[in-house]
Order: sequence, then C-alpha cells, then structure tokens
Amino acid sequence: MLLTKDIIDEKDKILRKKSKEVTFPLTEEDKKNIHDMVEYLTNSQIDEIAAKYSLRPGMGMSAVQIGVLKRYITIVHESSEGHFDTYIVINPKIVSESKEKIYVEDGEGCLSINRETIGIVPRCARVTVEGFDIDGNPITIRAREELAIVFQHEIDHLNGILFVDRIDPKNPFKYKDTYRAI
Ligand code: NI
Repeated sequence: MLLTKDIIDEKDKILRKKSKEVTFPLTEEDKKNIHDMVEYLTNSQIDEIAAKYSLRPGMGMSAVQIGVLKRYITIVHESSEGHFDTYIVINPKIVSESKEKIYVEDGEGCLSINRETIGIVPRCARVTVEGFDIDGNPITIRAREELAIVFQHEIDHLNGILFVDRIDPKNPFKYKDTYRAI
C-alpha cells in the first residue's frame, strides 16, 4: 500500500512536467497504481486507518504524484457523512465550466505541498469533465462546489500546475469579496 512518504513532494521537478495521454488497454502496472491511489485516498479519510499508518488526508491524487507521467486521476469524495464516492478518470478533460468562481475559504491543500500556504485559488463553481473509465469506456462527470475544485486541482497536476501557482503572489486575498467562499 502507498504511504504518505511515497507521495512526491513539490521539490521534485517531475511535478512540473506535463503528463502523457494514456492508451487502452491499461497496463497491469497502471491498474495497480489506480488501485493504490484509491486505497490511499480512502484510507486517509478513515480516522482509525489514517492514524494507524500516519496517512495525511487527501481527496484527490494524480498519477504524477507517485512518479507516473500519465494522464489519470483518482478522487475519493465524501458526498455525505461516511459515504464516499470514488472517481477514476483516464485522460480527463474539462469540456465546460461555469462563469461563477469559488474558492476554499480555509485554503486549498495538496498531498505534494508540505508547508503552510495562504491565499485564494480561484476555481470554477461547476465543471463538466469528460474522459474514460479503466476499461476505456467514455464517461462524463458533472461536478460542482468542492468536487469541482478537486477535479480542477487534479487536472492541473497533469499539466504540471500546482495550486500555489494560481495564488496571486502580490495580493493573495485579492478575490476574497469577488468570488464565493466555500
Ligand atoms: Ni494536489
């Protein structure tokens, strides 16, 4: 199983590289990676398991964060108390987005960024994501609010972008009153 130490830190320049499109069928290695990523994200949000293995909690992970420059992402999102929805998207693409922008009031986080950060990361309130499931079937996901933010954050990773890049360095709270906090 993956542990927090296996997740690549921002100091590693691989996180700045653009990941490559995946072709089907997936390799056994990619299937295992996806399994491990989902397992980590799920375990990290279950208090007893997270404590036992000292897992830093996370909702999303892209392949590059475990050193694989391929375009796939996994998200484990708690949609209601104790209920987790799992999303696995290969070659994800945002095909439409809302004009409305939102941001995480307490600040965004990332398993690859292990330091305090401040500032607002503007994100679309709603996005539609297209991509493929692990068998290569086309899928469409409509995400809003927190889930929409996680999709945008993970797809950024595939393009070598970290959330801190989206904070205005001169005025980190510039959009505080312009966009909606969640
Ligand atoms: Ni991240």
